[in-house]
Amino acid sequence: MVSIYWTLAGGSAVPADSAFLEHSLSVAEQIYLQSLRFPRRRADWLLGRWVAKHLLRTVDERLRGVEARRISVLRSAQGSPQVWVSPENPFPVSLSLSHREGWAACAVAPVPNWALGIDLEVIEPRPRSFVEDFFTLDEQAFLHRLSVAQAALAVTLMWSLKEAALKALRVGLTWDTRRVNVCLPSGLSPDPSWRAARITVRGVQASWQAWWCVVGQNVLTLAVCTETRPEALVYVPLRHVSTVHQSIGC
Ligand SMILES: CC(C)(COP(=O)(O)OP(=O)(O)OC[C@H]1O[C@@H](n2cnc3c(N)ncnc32)[C@H](O)[C@@H]1OP(=O)(O)O)[C@@H](O)C(=O)NCCC(=O)NCCS
Repeated sequence: MVSIYWTLAGGSAVPADSAFLEHSLSVAEQIYLQSLRFPRRRADWLLGRWVAKHLLRTVDERLRGVEARRISVLRSAQGSPQVWVSPENPFPVSLSLSHREGWAACAVAPVPNWALGIDLEVIEPRPRSFVEDFFTLDEQAFLHRLSVAQAALAVTLMWSLKEAALKALRVGLTWDTRRVNVCLPSGLSPDPSWRAARITVRGVQASWQAWWCVVGQNVLTLAVCTETRPEALVYVPLRHVSTVHQSIGC
């Protein structure tokens, strides 16, 4: 059975010094960083590389002892993250990233070509027009029955699950988000344990496994499309890897 490993890092667990973070970049990553002009985008992108490499070097025994700057996490042609250790071929691992306001989440399966997506969103109210534009009629009917307080969590959560699914398919927001239908069978209490969600994607004949949890003011979601990997239909344990940056030699 393959495990999906995930982590969420931010605040004091992350080095504040961008020079420290930049020191762990490969040459290809340094070149890409130069193309990012906006400070916030640079900071998010840097944090994403740091968290991804931390997770990869912690959970994938093939990368233990490999210096962070020998690993590249670069965008593929579709925008999805791809890991390189030597220039010939992508490293056979599946990885997804999300970052928001100084926090970054990463999920890794130490096998190639798994369709997995992770997403982090701040819980906040969104206007009715947002729901009407981006949610299916079934989702809108579900949301209509909720109180205002529950709706902020539910809308954020369902939006995040849509993004996680579209990342897993490597299409991102180039697809209409109404192709993804999200159902929340296990209630809406905002606690930090993982709970299952149900996802279907119009036009994609595949089974999905999806989970969500609440972390502070954020939701964290994870979606795995099991179309080509039926063994992933078995329960996939999620493990949290603590982030202690002092222990990482770059
Ligand atoms: C992919 C997308 C859903 C990301 O969502 P987001 O909430 O903006 O940002 P997140 O922090 O959660 O995720 C960003 C990460 O998603 C990953 N990503 C980007 N495109 C991806 C894709 N097509 N498939 C899978 N993952 C993708 C990247 O790893 C990115 O981080 P990085 O740039 O540091 O490597 C969205 O930005 C997107 O689809 N962008 C491309 C299409 C677009 O730009 N449309 C215009 C806006 S409507």
